[in-house]
Amino acid sequence: MKFYVLTLFPEMIEQTINTSITGRAIKDGIIEVEAINIRDFADNDYGQIDDYPYGGGAGMVMQAPPIIDAYNSIVERVGYKPPVVFMTPTGSTFEQNDARTFAKIDDLVILCGHYEGVDERALEEIVTYNISIGDYVLTGGELPALVVMDAVTRLIPGVLNNDVSASTESFEDGLLEHPQYTRPAEFDGKKVPDILLSGNHAKIDEYRRLESIKRTFERRPDLLDDIELSDKEEQYLNNLKNND
Ligand code: ADE
Repeated sequence: MKFYVLTLFPEMIEQTINTSITGRAIKDGIIEVEAINIRDFADNDYGQIDDYPYGGGAGMVMQAPPIIDAYNSIVERVGYKPPVVFMTPTGSTFEQNDARTFAKIDDLVILCGHYEGVDERALEEIVTYNISIGDYVLTGGELPALVVMDAVTRLIPGVLNNDVSASTESFEDGLLEHPQYTRPAEFDGKKVPDILLSGNHAKIDEYRRLESIKRTFERRPDLLDDIELSDKEEQYLNNLKNND
C-alpha cells in the first residue's frame, strides 16, 4: 500500500511516520509513504499557495490550482485517479471501520488542509472521503493524516507480528478491550485476578469477554446497542445496570 500525503509540512509527516511500527512497516516494504509539498506546485517564484477569502473573513484560503496540480502529478505516475481523503473537522468522524476500508486501497492520497481552509473547487474535483478525527479543531491536517495512516497500517497483514492482537482488541468485536496484566503477579498489594493464572483458556476467554462488557458499559455505553450478547452476558449486563 502506498500513501501520498499532500501537505505544506512534509517533514512533519516523514519524521513521525518513519518512527516505531509504521517506520518498521516502511523498512520492511509493506507500506510506502510519500509526502508531497504542495508549495512545489505554486505558480509563482515565492511559493505562495494561499490567498484572501472571497467575501471577506479572517485568515487565508489554500488555492485550488497547486492542489490540483499536485494531485495530477500522482495521477500521471500511477496511471489512474486514486481516492483522496481530505482531513477536515467538517468530515465524518474516523472510525475503525474506515480504517478497515482504507486498508484495502492500494494508493491512498491524503490531503492536509491549513489556514482557514481550502478552495471548495479543488475539493469538489478530487476528494473521495471527508474525514475528521474528532470534534476539535487542530492547526492543520498533518496530525490527523498521521492518525489515519497509523490506524490503517497496523491492519495490513505482516505489520503487527501478532495477528491475534489486531483482532481481539478494542472495536474489533464492537467492545472495548478487557484489562491486561503482566508480571509481577502482585504489585503494591494488588493481585492479578486468579482466573488469569489458572491456565483454563475457556474460562479466561469468558472472564475477559465479561470484563470487556463491563468496561464498555462504564466508558462507552453507546457501543452496547449494536452488540449481540448471550443470555449469560445479558444477565451480567443487567446486574451492572441495576448496581449503577
Ligand atoms: N484539521 C483540523 N482539525 C481537524 C480534525 N479534527 N480532524 C481532521 N482534520 C482536521
